[in-house]
Amino acid sequence: MGSARPPEGAHPAPHGGRSLSRAAVQRALLHPLAKPLVFAVWLLPFAWLFWAAAADRLGANPAEALIRSLGDWTLRALVLVLLVTPLRVSLGWPALARFRRMLGLFVFFYATLHWLAYVWFDMGFDWAEVVADIPKRPFILVGTLAWLLLLALAATSFNRAIRALGAPRWQALHRLVYAVAVLAVLHFFWMRAGKHDFNEVAVYAVLFAALLGWRAWRRWGAPQGRGVSSRI
Ligand code: HEM
Repeated sequence: MGSARPPEGAHPAPHGGRSLSRAAVQRALLHPLAKPLVFAVWLLPFAWLFWAAAADRLGANPAEALIRSLGDWTLRALVLVLLVTPLRVSLGWPALARFRRMLGLFVFFYATLHWLAYVWFDMGFDWAEVVADIPKRPFILVGTLAWLLLLALAATSFNRAIRALGAPRWQALHRLVYAVAVLAVLHFFWMRAGKHDFNEVAVYAVLFAALLGWRAWRRWGAPQGRGVSSRI
């Protein structure tokens, strides 16, 4: 017997012209190949960096280029994962929710590669040095805090963890992604402070302020928006 449940992220049948295109987007998002496609796209930066490192195409300072590039991809993935709910709600694309966990795990994936590249190329896998560097440099301290929070989120991102914690506690825990965004911008800011180069930092600060501000507005500003804060 087939299940009576609609597919994950499915929505009642829409009406009207705008709803027709919305239905088409919804169908595309629910396509069985949509998730594998997003997965493959988000592996591309890793594949490109791996190839560039192996082919010695990372410039004069490959270690620095690799660490920085992986940090940039972590931030980009973080922006995207925080965009899912605003897009889902304001454009009426509920099926976008299916991609949130995968994108969140990509944030963790790139953050972990970024950290491993630092541990390998900057610290030579000297764990005593790695630990000593944390209190020494504020940007390393906040980066490490952000990564530890991501580790907690990734470790509890599976259905069994959601069942074990219960939905309200799981949702409260996963709101820590907002703290990750703040720490990530602080990490970037402190890292660039020595060079007084804040242009890119400002772009990310504005993006995260908008993404977190939208949630604050839905929670406390818009009367009909209550409840969105439980979604990441
Ligand atoms: C959520 C976690 C993190 C994010 C989003 C992040 C992001 C970034 C970004 C955007 C950059 C600058 C890239 C550029 O200049 O284009 C960067 C640089 C850097 N990050 Fe992270 N980072 C994170 C965690 C960490 C951790 C855990 C460490 C190590 C403990 C770390 C160590 C570094 C280092 C060493 C650099 C390069 C500094 C330099 O080249 O002078 N980051 N990170």
